Amino acid sequence: MLAGQRIWITGASSGIGRAVAIELAKAQARLVISGRNREALQELKKAYPKQIELVLAFDVTNLNANLAAAGHITKQLGGLDKVFLNAGASQHIDPAEFHSEAFVKMIKINYFSLVYGIEAALPLLQSSKAPHIIGMSSMAAYHGLPLGEAYSAAKAASRNLLQGLQVDFKQKGISVSIVCPGFIDTPLTARHRFSMPFLMTAERAASIIVKGIIKRKAEIAFPKPMIWAAKSLNYLPSSWVIGLLARAKLKVQKSQAKTDK
Ligand SMILES: NC(=O)c1ccc[n+]([C@@H]2O[C@H](COP(=O)([O-])OP(=O)(O)OC[C@H]3O[C@@H](n4cnc5c(N)ncnc54)[C@H](OP(=O)(O)O)[C@@H]3O)[C@@H](O)[C@H]2O)c1
Repeated sequence: MLAGQRIWITGASSGIGRAVAIELAKAQARLVISGRNREALQELKKAYPKQIELVLAFDVTNLNANLAAAGHITKQLGGLDKVFLNAGASQHIDPAEFHSEAFVKMIKINYFSLVYGIEAALPLLQSSKAPHIIGMSSMAAYHGLPLGEAYSAAKAASRNLLQGLQVDFKQKGISVSIVCPGFIDTPLTARHRFSMPFLMTAERAASIIVKGIIKRKAEIAFPKPMIWAAKSLNYLPSSWVIGLLARAKLKVQKSQAKTDK
C-alpha cells in the first residue's frame, strides 16, 4: 500500500519523524527526509540507502528553503504522494519573565513550518493520484496549558489550520490528516523533569501514525486516555479546570525544583 509512494518527512533526524521514516522505509516507500542535522539524516540514509532517495538539510522556518527543497524533490522524484510535516520544537515559558521571544519561536517552528511546507509541497502533490498531507499537532492543542502557552497555542493553530484544509482540499481530492500525540519518549521530552503519564516509545508512536496514514484518518490522536483527558478539559466548568491545571502546574514546578537541587 505504501510501497513506491513518494513521501517527504520533515523532522526526520530524530524522535517521531525518524521512527516514522524507518517504518515507511521498511514498507518500501520512496523517501525524502529533512531536518537541520545533516549527519543524523545521512546516518539514517546509510541504513536504508535504496528507500531514502533524498536527504535535505534545511531550516523549515524559512519559506525560501522550503521552496528550494521542493525544487530538489521535483528533480529527483518528479513529485510527491504524501508529505508528513512533522518538524517542531517545544519550550516552556517563565510567566514571571513574560517575553514574546518564545512565542515567536514556537509559532514559527510549529505553525509556519506547516504553512510553508504546504505551500512548497502542493504543486508536487498534483502529480499524485491520491495526494495526502499529514500535519503534526499535539494533544497540547486541545486546551491552553500553564507554562506551555507558547507551544500549545502554536499547536492549536496548526490543528485549526489543518481542520480548515480538510474541507477546502476535499474538493481537490487531497486528504489531510492531523497527528495529535500525547507524551512520546524523544529528545523533545527528554528535557522534561516531571512524570509523563502514558509515555510511549517513538517506535510505538510511529507504528500508530503509519497505520493512521494508511487509513487516511482525519485525526491520529493517541494514547486514548491522554486524549480523552485533554479533550474533556473543554467540557468541564472553567473553575474546575483552572483548579486542576493549577495543581498540575504546582506538581511540575515541585519536581523541577527537586531535580534542580
Ligand atoms: N515527543 C512528544 O511527546 C510530542 C508530543 C506531541 C507532539 N510532538 C511533536 O512531534 C514532532 C516531533 O517531535 P519529537 O518529539 O520527535 O522531537 P525531536 O526528536 O526533537 O524531533 C524534532 C525534529 O524536528 C526537527 N526540527 C526542529 N526545528 C527545526 C527547524 N527549524 N528546521 C528543520 N527541522 C527542525 C529536528 O531536526 P533538526 O534538529 O535536525 O533540525 C527533529 O528532526 C514535533 O512537532 C513535536 O512538537 C511531540
